[in-house]
Amino acid sequence: MFAPATSITAKVFRFDPSKEKEGHLQSFIIKTSEPLSVMTILAKVHDLDPTFACRTSTCFKGKCGSCLIRVNGKNVLGCIELVQPGEEITLEPPSHFQLIRDVVVDFSHPLGAQQKYDEETEQ
Ligand code: FES
Repeated sequence: MFAPATSITAKVFRFDPSKEKEGHLQSFIIKTSEPLSVMTILAKVHDLDPTFACRTSTCFKGKCGSCLIRVNGKNVLGCIELVQPGEEITLEPPSHFQLIRDVVVDFSHPLGAQQKYDEETEQ
């Protein structure tokens, strides 16, 4: 008998530059039987752990770009990207911007072309 999935596993990038030299992934289980947007998942992670830093975006219509985040290695708009129950996702700060804390970046400081290249080719 098929049992419907009832949760989403979110592996979330955590980094506090005042306390750590490197970031790490922390797993959270989000209970749901409905698809959730990535922004909703981030809000639920923040509810579970109020020390988790994430942006609260403004338009929720895929127009402002303030919800940009990397999901499973790809930059997407978190307000329109849906995640299905049963999925496991990795949420990291969007690439090519200076990291502030956890998944929050400084959009006013895009990384230079050399930094982008170095970031993408190191692994
Ligand atoms: S909240 Fe504006 S594009 Fe997502």
